[in-house]
Amino acid sequence: MRTFEKIADLRRYLAEMRAGGKRIGFVPTMGFLHKGHMALMRAVKEDPEVDLSVVSIFVNPLQFGPQEDYRSYPRDLGRDEELCISAGMDVLFIPAVEEMYPEGFATSVEVTGVTEVLCGRSRPGHFKGVATVVTKLFNIVQPDCAYFGIKDAQQFVVIKRMVRDLNLPVKIKAHPTVREEDGLAVSSRNVYLTKDERRAATVLYRSLECTAAEIRKGERDALRLKRMLTEKISAEPLARLDYAEVLSWPDLRPVDVLRRGEVLAAVAAYFGRARLIDNVLVEVE
Ligand code: PAJ
Repeated sequence: MRTFEKIADLRRYLAEMRAGGKRIGFVPTMGFLHKGHMALMRAVKEDPEVDLSVVSIFVNPLQFGPQEDYRSYPRDLGRDEELCISAGMDVLFIPAVEEMYPEGFATSVEVTGVTEVLCGRSRPGHFKGVATVVTKLFNIVQPDCAYFGIKDAQQFVVIKRMVRDLNLPVKIKAHPTVREEDGLAVSSRNVYLTKDERRAATVLYRSLECTAAEIRKGERDALRLKRMLTEKISAEPLARLDYAEVLSWPDLRPVDVLRRGEVLAAVAAYFGRARLIDNVLVEVE
């Protein structure tokens, strides 16, 4: 694996690879790699449309609010590097903050509409930070395709919309959510959880699964489903609910009666200082 810290060096190397006919697959991350990231790396590695796999690790300050966990976000570059090697990545890009945002940086990318619900509502500016850094990373790496996890369903929708709206020449691929054995979605932020909070956090997926089961049984009233989801999570004393929603997929619009197609049931809740999110996509027959 080749590791690059400087944009110019990476671009020079990738230009050479591209000239040699190599198609580039990309996995952007914020590091502290876990089973979810590993699955994305495996997917890019096994993708028949990819000849060269690139992973980036960059904790992007722009996507954290002033009261959020940018400074305490878990980091372990040594371990991450080992994991990228073991996943068979060809290239690792680990820029410093000053490399990505030099003095005078003043431009941003903002997607409207789909960013006005869920995490976009609870975390003002978050998706502007995500869209901006992903645009930069796409321009730096110029991948043929890039992988994103459905764990962050709204992020996936935002990136898809941005790529379409701005005609970015990259194919966006989705990867399903990787979970612990008890259903908890794997996340870098799970390290914040105490033992009791870790146990309590399983309420998210259990409640989402109940919602999905109700839909499969024929429930079509979105408000009733949302109320059920809210009550189940609120019944857990260690959970502080941020939102529980049932929205149309992939346009993330409120629905009152579920129609044929897919819906997204999505939740966010605090367990101690950890803000966790999870979702399920449900096919409505
Ligand atoms: P990060 O949270 O590190 O996640 C990197 C990628 O891994 C994202 O596409 C995310 O959806 C995916 N991922 C995380 N947990 C997952 C899980 N349990 N199962 C499947 N995929 C999972 O998302 C970001 O970083 C940043 O916002 C980024 C896109 C890198 C921009 O800064």
